Amino acid sequence: MTAIPLVDLAAQHAQVADEVAEGWAEVLAKTAFIGGAPVGAFEAEFAAYCGVAHCVGVGNGTDAIELALRALGVGPGDECVLPANTFIATAEAVARAGATPVLVDCADDTLLIDVDQLESVVGPRTKAILPVHLYGQTAPVERIRPIADAVGAAIVEDAAQSQGARRHGRAAGSLGDIAATSFYPGKNLGAYGDAGGVVTDNADLAQRVRLLREHGSPRKYEHPELGFNSRMDTLQAVVLSAKLRRLEGWNTARRAAAARYDDLLAALPSVGRPVVLDGNEPVWHLYVVRVADRDRVLAGLNAAGIGAGIHYPVPVHRTGAFSSLATGSFPVAEKTAGELLSLPLFAEITPAQQERVVEVLSGLVP
Ligand SMILES: Cc1ncc(COP(=O)(O)O)c(C=O)c1O
Repeated sequence: MTAIPLVDLAAQHAQVADEVAEGWAEVLAKTAFIGGAPVGAFEAEFAAYCGVAHCVGVGNGTDAIELALRALGVGPGDECVLPANTFIATAEAVARAGATPVLVDCADDTLLIDVDQLESVVGPRTKAILPVHLYGQTAPVERIRPIADAVGAAIVEDAAQSQGARRHGRAAGSLGDIAATSFYPGKNLGAYGDAGGVVTDNADLAQRVRLLREHGSPRKYEHPELGFNSRMDTLQAVVLSAKLRRLEGWNTARRAAAARYDDLLAALPSVGRPVVLDGNEPVWHLYVVRVADRDRVLAGLNAAGIGAGIHYPVPVHRTGAFSSLATGSFPVAEKTAGELLSLPLFAEITPAQQERVVEVLSGLVP
């Protein structure tokens, strides 16, 4: 039986290979590897896709969060609130900006930030709230808005896993004040290396990010403030433009695959299926189920050649890097970290592959 990967990047590359080769040949002929027309074109296309006025291409998704925070003026002495169940990068970017991450637990059904707990942690030092649109579904940002407004905090969406996701018809990236996304290769819209983007409707914030990503420099050799080097490579912009044209189709295929898993897994009541929040149109970056004795089940799947994974095995406060946050209590994140299991899901997955995944899974759960 052939292996089934968690994500099949080769199948995706086959669809854009000619376009990428042509675009890369032009970049190579011009030897213009930084900036240039392909980056500007992609920024305009992605901003339009998200329904906002501005996109600034940067080096990766972690930098995108940090740059968004710095553009807002977040720094030492400030607090930023984020969920305990996320990739460490969300907390890392806050700490790198000089601010203090403040965690809240996740909701037991959707695994998104638990909005009911926000009011008890925000205060005068809160400069930003970072809802993470985890696994491809958006957090309920409209419920976070009044809580953020009450303390004068900005909403910075972590939209790394949600390119194309919608909430009440509005795209991820357009729901807060500014949003950061990652184009890491395995994302729904993935580059061929590291890349990220900051999107916003706010022209001033976009301009601040543009300066910061380029050594704080409005013009060559003028550096009124300390910045970074975090630009999107021209070669990556070519890939991303080619893929963006296909993203809606790929996300539709992911939805169909998620619905197929939902149907197949209905026969396995001990497997907890993902819960979608009312008003959400997810893009299924990951299809995450919950099982008892997860490590044994995962090992069984992997032994059968099925590339299942865990997102995430360790909540932020249980990492060494953020052990200072371990005094908090995040029981849902702690409990679910031992149950989560991501099944293979990508646009090209076939019904036969999904049936095989569920067949093997059915032999491993009660
Ligand atoms: C939720 C989340 N935030 C931030 C990031 C960071 O993105 P990058 O790996 O491009 O730095 C990722 C992806 O890795 C992510 O999944």
